[in-house]
Amino acid sequence: MTDKKSNAMWGGRFAAGPDAIMEAINASIDFDKRLASQDIAGSRAHAAMLAKQGILTDTDAEAIREGLLTVLSEIERGEFTFSTALEDIHMNVESRLKEIIGEAAGRLHTARSRNDQVATDFKLWVRDQIDAAISGLEALIRALIAQAEKGADWVMPGFTHLQTAQPVTWGHHMMAYVEMFGRDMSRFNDARVRMNESPLGSAALAGTGFPIDRHMTAEALGFDRPTANSLDAVADRDFALEFLSSASICAMHLSRFAEELVIWSSAQFRFVALSDRFSTGSSIMPQKKNPDAAELIRAKIGRIFGANVALMTVMKGLPLAYSKDMQEDKEQVFDAADNLMLALAAMTGMVSDMTANVDNLRAAAASGFSTATDLADWLVREAGLPFRDAHHVTGALVAMAEKKGVDLPDLSLDEMKSVNEAITEGVYDVLTVENSVASRTSYGGTAPAQVRAQIARWKEVLG
Ligand code: ARG
Repeated sequence: MTDKKSNAMWGGRFAAGPDAIMEAINASIDFDKRLASQDIAGSRAHAAMLAKQGILTDTDAEAIREGLLTVLSEIERGEFTFSTALEDIHMNVESRLKEIIGEAAGRLHTARSRNDQVATDFKLWVRDQIDAAISGLEALIRALIAQAEKGADWVMPGFTHLQTAQPVTWGHHMMAYVEMFGRDMSRFNDARVRMNESPLGSAALAGTGFPIDRHMTAEALGFDRPTANSLDAVADRDFALEFLSSASICAMHLSRFAEELVIWSSAQFRFVALSDRFSTGSSIMPQKKNPDAAELIRAKIGRIFGANVALMTVMKGLPLAYSKDMQEDKEQVFDAADNLMLALAAMTGMVSDMTANVDNLRAAAASGFSTATDLADWLVREAGLPFRDAHHVTGALVAMAEKKGVDLPDLSLDEMKSVNEAITEGVYDVLTVENSVASRTSYGGTAPAQVRAQIARWKEVLG
């Protein structure tokens, strides 16, 4: 039990303060202090607008705006004492403002509510994270393009079902991720366009009777326009959900690539060597070099998916407009954003530093009958066989080679002819992995020429 005084901000009708447990479950200051600079920017814009509209005197507005800057610098210098009794960042800031400038501070909250205030603060914060994700992705894409340029014609095995399928080029594989991360970038961009409307001035839920200018505050905060429905504005967290779902898809891509790097750097594959900067050793096995960064990226992604599901679940049963449930939106998004940025930076570092083992890649590409499709295509093109028959003949040749323990190019012409008479010396041209990749010139195909064309297109896109 507590005999604390009622809340200084809203306690007019309360005789007693909250129970300690109530205070603990209700307070958000421990985490929403991360919104301090957005909160202060929103309040400064609001105060300037109130003055321009004649709702506040210029003197009061100036005192408020200056005082808020003092509060901000105290927070930035770590000199601010956050109070749980004051619940959240909004009331912590306002209360300190009152200590600094006196009674005028109480006029700041005219024509707004914490409901539109928190929606505005959080949107501004998420918008910054979207921008950070976009630049993180751009850095990663540039690192992938650099790898692709180096190895536009290095041959490696392409897989389906993680079984050797057809030879592809290193550049082609790197550029596949460029496409994925490029879509992620455009998803974040789309989300940014949709979310960039200002909730400020929607007040508690119904708007306000004060003659405010919502266009002015929207513009001051870099929004494209004010939101068009005050109920929606205070009840909406789509912007955070779109951030989390775009982050989840991006995280899924990061995790797939991380998984490939774990496989590729293993002793069994040895396709790549990761740099010392992004690996760790074992405390007991001296020979080991572990791909921990890749593994942690793969694992951390779980939090991002989790945040998406958690916030969806918080929102799905809420009647309009604001409910306190919505205070649970922030920690999820903070954690997901922190981990996404870390994963993007770690992946960029790994990609820039890794060295492909070109000889191993080529050797692996040449094994596993990877040019069998080229042989079948040759039978269609040069011997006029229907593709189904060509597939069958090739299958028989693969079986023969397998039985002899050799690769397709090691079969003699006589052996080939014993399966199909129409086969000639020319077939050996298509059985090398270099010729195989060079022949795949269809748009978006693995031929080095195609890969170089896509690299050039991306470089133009990025400028
Ligand atoms: N701390 C609250 C949140 O994060 C701010 C809004 C509170 N609004 C209210 N009506 N109690 O959502």
